[in-house]
Order: sequence, then structure tokens, then C-alpha cells
Amino acid sequence: MESLSISKTINFVEQKVTLHGFVHNIREMGGIIFLDLRDRSGIIQTIIDPKIIGEKNFEETKRLKRESVIEIEGEIKKRPEKNKNLKILTGEIELQAKKIKILNLSDDLPFEIRKDTRGVDEELRLKYRYLDLRSERMKNNLIKRHELILWLRNYLAKKGFIEIETPLLGKGTPEGSREFIVPSRLWPGKFYTLPQSPQQYKQLLMIAGLEKYFQFARCLRDEDGRADRQPEFTQLDIEMSFVNQEEIMSLTEEMMIEVVGKIFPEKKITQIPFPRINYEESLRLYQSDKPDLRPCSRASSLQGKKIKENGELSFVWVVNQPLFEYSETEKKLVSVHHPFTAPQEDDLNKLEKEPLKASAQMYDLVLNGEEIAGGSIRIHNPKLQQLIFKILGLKESEIKEKFGHLIEAFKFGAPPHGGIAFGFDRLVSILCNEETIREVITFPKTGDSRDPLAGSPSELPKTQIAEANIEIKKKKKGE
Ligand code: AMO
Repeated sequence: MESLSISKTINFVEQKVTLHGFVHNIREMGGIIFLDLRDRSGIIQTIIDPKIIGEKNFEETKRLKRESVIEIEGEIKKRPEKNKNLKILTGEIELQAKKIKILNLSDDLPFEIRKDTRGVDEELRLKYRYLDLRSERMKNNLIKRHELILWLRNYLAKKGFIEIETPLLGKGTPEGSREFIVPSRLWPGKFYTLPQSPQQYKQLLMIAGLEKYFQFARCLRDEDGRADRQPEFTQLDIEMSFVNQEEIMSLTEEMMIEVVGKIFPEKKITQIPFPRINYEESLRLYQSDKPDLRPCSRASSLQGKKIKENGELSFVWVVNQPLFEYSETEKKLVSVHHPFTAPQEDDLNKLEKEPLKASAQMYDLVLNGEEIAGGSIRIHNPKLQQLIFKILGLKESEIKEKFGHLIEAFKFGAPPHGGIAFGFDRLVSILCNEETIREVITFPKTGDSRDPLAGSPSELPKTQIAEANIEIKKKKKGE
């Protein structure tokens, strides 16, 4: 008999079924076993009576521990009125077992998964992530993430965007973070870098004439871990040709309003259209370029309290950022967004003499005090791109070595273009009321970039290291 998912059993009253799943709970009372069987879709109470399944099968079942995997053949019955539990989907029915087959036993679990696992030590949760993911909240986070991806993908496809994959092994795009590097076996002494984002490739796709691109793109940044950052994360990356800032912002805004309405109808967007604030004004009024405009936020911060989650979504656009800022650590000008961002038309004449006064054609989307997306109109003129690199302190030879390919591409009829990228994990975590993005990433790294499950990063066999043409520096004493 084909396996039936538990949520569908409500349509099978008085019928024979075969179910598969985990033993969520098991208890014996008055010579009968009550077993809650769980699959991805739900939980069903099962009545196991030795008179029906036979003494031998009953004794085997008695030995089962929670989380063992079983198959049950039986019949769906209506529960007696007094036993109904309207809180759960299958609360009006139960499964009368006819035969139990043990498919695999489970050891005692290292932590309780039948309740919210947020209180459990995170190292332990990550070591046994596959168990953590069995918990209701974590499973639902993954399902919501999937629903969002599916919906956004279809939405963008309907709007004429095509999803295109870009390489992971590349030459890198400096966007302010350190890059992960991959040694080349075939080219001794040479390296690939892993992309911080598909920025350059998506621009090249515009030059390729593809007009509207998107990708759920994996991005890699060798950053020190923080609650809202991961070395590996996902962006919903978008790029368009022949577009202005206003058009990108309104596409993004409409998409957000619709997706919240469809996938999170219980949430309330506090202000539509999304308010806009100038970067300078945001710093002046909120001492932050990521202002939290929720009405409850102001009250909470006045009382020095943490904001209580109440389903409010407060989006705000932060615009008119400067193109450059002075980095005290690097002792030079750096791009506020990235070096491919176009200056505002009116500020072109400020670039050489007073670059810090030039504003960028860029926009950040902030949600409940977190930056969930950022984008800009790009430079498509080779001369202007070269000038920006020069202002950033790159020598002619460095420009050629690092970005020659892009500047060359701009010479072959590059359409004006621009785009935006969502920090997809951040978006999902806010929508799922989670405090860290680790709660919505299937297999995240710890705050210090380790994976306790598989044990990465790890040392490698000497032969593998030698093949990659690299040598490991001996540790100095005290290191
Ligand atoms: P940016 O660097 O602003 O822009 O990244 C876009 C969004 O990605 C999220 N984000 C992160 N999320 C998790 N972990 C991280 N380490 C991390 N770093 C960034 C943020 C951010 O808003 N190529 C440009 C986009 C463009 O111009 O189109 C870019 O990557 O939510």
C-alpha cells in the first residue's frame, strides 16, 4: 500500500492506510500503547491494542524509543467525542494499528526536539542539526523559506526576468569584504576567488543583452562572524537594463508588498508606499543608517526595552548616500556601496575635486532596523569607471589587471543598467520572527565560522595539500 502523508488522513475515515514516520511520543496505559506518529505534514495518534496486532508485535512495539522510524498499517477511525483535540489537524481521528513494522531504531536524543530548541546550546544544535531540523519551528522556517523562494521566482519570471547561474570560481569582485581563495591544482601558484556576490557577472549579463536577470545566488565572504552575518549566505540578486533608480525601487516595493500578503498574511506593513529617508537625515535623526521606524520601536527604545515582536513590518528606503567615504583603517577613500555604483548626474563635476561631496545613485531597503537589500545604478561608461578606480587609489596597472575585462566590455555597447540584491536569509529571518539568520539557514556556521556537524574547517591530507600547490606555514611558538 502506498504511503499516505499524515495531514491527508482526515479524508480516509473508515479506510485502511499505511503510514510512515517517526515515533513522536509513546506511552502505555491500561495494556494499550498510545503512539504519536509524526511525518513532515503532521502528527496522528495511534492506538495499539495487543488483541488486534498480536502479542508478538505488541512486545516489539513496547521496546520502541522516541524518534525511531516505523511503518504502521491500520484503519483511520473517528475519535470518541470526549477524546477529540481540536488544537491539532488530526484531532478528530486516530489510527487503529493492525501491524507495526520497525524500520530503524533511534538512540536517546542529545536534546529535546518536541519543543522550541532555541534554549538548547547552539553548538549542540548545530552538531546534530538534522535533529534540530526535526523540531516544528525549524521545519516551518525551512518550509516558509521554500515558499518565499518559489513565489519570488515565479513573480520575477512573470515580470520577464530570467534566472541565470553565474560561476563560483572566479576572479573576485572587491565589495569591501575579504575573499575566500581557492588554490588551483592545474595552475601552480594561481588562485580562484569565491564571489562576494555575482556583481560583475550580472553586469556582464546586461552587456550580453539579457536585459532582466535574477538569481538566488550563494555569496561567500571571509568575514568575522556576527549574529546577522554568515561566511556563506544567499542573495536574491536582480539586475536590469534601461532602468532608473525609481523603477528598481518600485519593482522591489511591489514585490515585497505582494509576497508579504501572500506568504505572511498575518503580518502588517506599517506604511505603504514605503517611506524614504536621506542617508544624512537618517544619521542625524536616528544615529543609524538602518533606522527602525516601527511605532513600537520608539516606545521600546524610550523605555530601554527590547522590541516585542507584534507582526509589524516597517520598510524604509535609505537614499542619497555619498559615493565615497574615508576609511580610517585603510587611510584612503573607499566606496560606500561598491566601485561600480554610478554617481548622481549632478555630482559628476565634484568627483575629482571634492569626491566626498558626491552622492551615489544607490538605495538600501531597511526592514525593522536591518538592511535587507541594497543596490545601485551602475557605471556603464569605461572612462567614468576608470576615473572612479583612480579616485579609489588604484594604479593604472592595477585597474588593467583587476578590472580590464569589465572596462573592455563597457566598450562594446554596454546598456545603462542597475539592480539590487536582497540578503535573503535576513529577509526570511525577520519574516519568520527569528533573531538570527542561523535559524533560517539549513546548515549554518557558528559565530566563529565552524561547522560542528561535519567538523569544518579541517586539516587535509598532505597529498591533497601538495596537489593544490600550497605549503602550510609552520606555527611559531605561542601561536
Ligand atoms: P551588499 O554587499 O549590500 O550588496 O549585499 C546585499 C545584502 O546582502 C546581505 N548580506 C549578508 N547577509 C548575510 N551574511 C553576510 N555576510 C552578508 N553580507 C551582506 C545584506 C545586504 O543588504 N552586489 C551588491 C548588490 C547590488 O549592488 O546589486 C551587494 O552584494 O542584507
